[in-house]
Amino acid sequence: MKTLTFDNGDKMPQLGLGTWKSEPGDVYKAVKAAIEMGYRHIDCAHIYGNEAEIGQALEDVFAAGTVSREALWITSKLWNSDHAPKDVQPALETTLRNLKLDYLDLYLMHWPVALKKGVPFPQSGDDMVSLSELPVATTWAAMEDLVDKDMTRQIGVSNFSVKKLQALTDQARLKPAMNQIELHPYLQQNAMLDFCREQGIHLTAYSPLGSFDRPAGLKAEDEPVLLEDPIIHDIADNHGASPAQVLIAWALQRGTAVIPKSVNPERLQQNLAAAELTLSDDDMQAIAALDKHRRYVDGGFWAQPGSDYSLASLWDE
Ligand code: A2P
Repeated sequence: MKTLTFDNGDKMPQLGLGTWKSEPGDVYKAVKAAIEMGYRHIDCAHIYGNEAEIGQALEDVFAAGTVSREALWITSKLWNSDHAPKDVQPALETTLRNLKLDYLDLYLMHWPVALKKGVPFPQSGDDMVSLSELPVATTWAAMEDLVDKDMTRQIGVSNFSVKKLQALTDQARLKPAMNQIELHPYLQQNAMLDFCREQGIHLTAYSPLGSFDRPAGLKAEDEPVLLEDPIIHDIADNHGASPAQVLIAWALQRGTAVIPKSVNPERLQQNLAAAELTLSDDDMQAIAALDKHRRYVDGGFWAQPGSDYSLASLWDE
């Protein structure tokens, strides 16, 4: 498995298992099966509501001797309602308790969005805290302390625009090591790729298969279905591969980490095997032409009337 190397020499397996939308009843089996078949990177988050089951799977694979803690890369994310500096360490402590771990490999600020303490999702602008009141740089400083305390080896962000990443990098004591963002052929974000390459910041591609299983409220009626794209299908047929494998191989060949989610053993196996697929220059060019700047996770749920947040201010576009 290819890896991405961090400034201190840490190596993250480029292909990981996503766990957003993996129901608590399914995720234990999926994580255990994934590790048994060779996955070494699991992407988690407090807000996914399934970290306790993932923790049980981790404890069980360690006890069985399938893998050691050091051989795994575990990422999790700080939720928006824990951005106040005093809440940051307790939030990581909760995640570590749920995951039954004593450190993370990577802890990400999930969104550049702050919510009032105890509010998982906003019902109105009243539930939100503006970034002028609680700047991301203030939250970041509390995350830096977690590295000093060896509670996480790396820290990074998620859903940050180039502008926000630049502003944070300018102010930070520790550079964000990662930005985890939506990346797939319909949302290629080449300017972000160039910026991160220049700055030595890694990228992780979320929703690499188009997240067709996301809640109905997060779906547009007329949205294009990435896994049904005819060009992706043609390329897959030419390689005797599946469309999902082409999407995963594309992400790997662009030098990003990628975290396809599955709870199905055959698809887990298929997705892992995508690391063996090499796309040709022609394939890569054909896929480059598919960009539509289409966000499946558009962040519209943060643009609450009466708050300072809008889609324009979230994505800086
Ligand atoms: P399942 O969990 O039943 O396998 P994303 O990673 O972009 O969020 O996409 C996840 C969605 O893609 C889920 O619905 C998942 O279903 C499905 N999926 C995962 N792997 C594959 C695959 N190899 N082929 C088709 N669909 C897949």
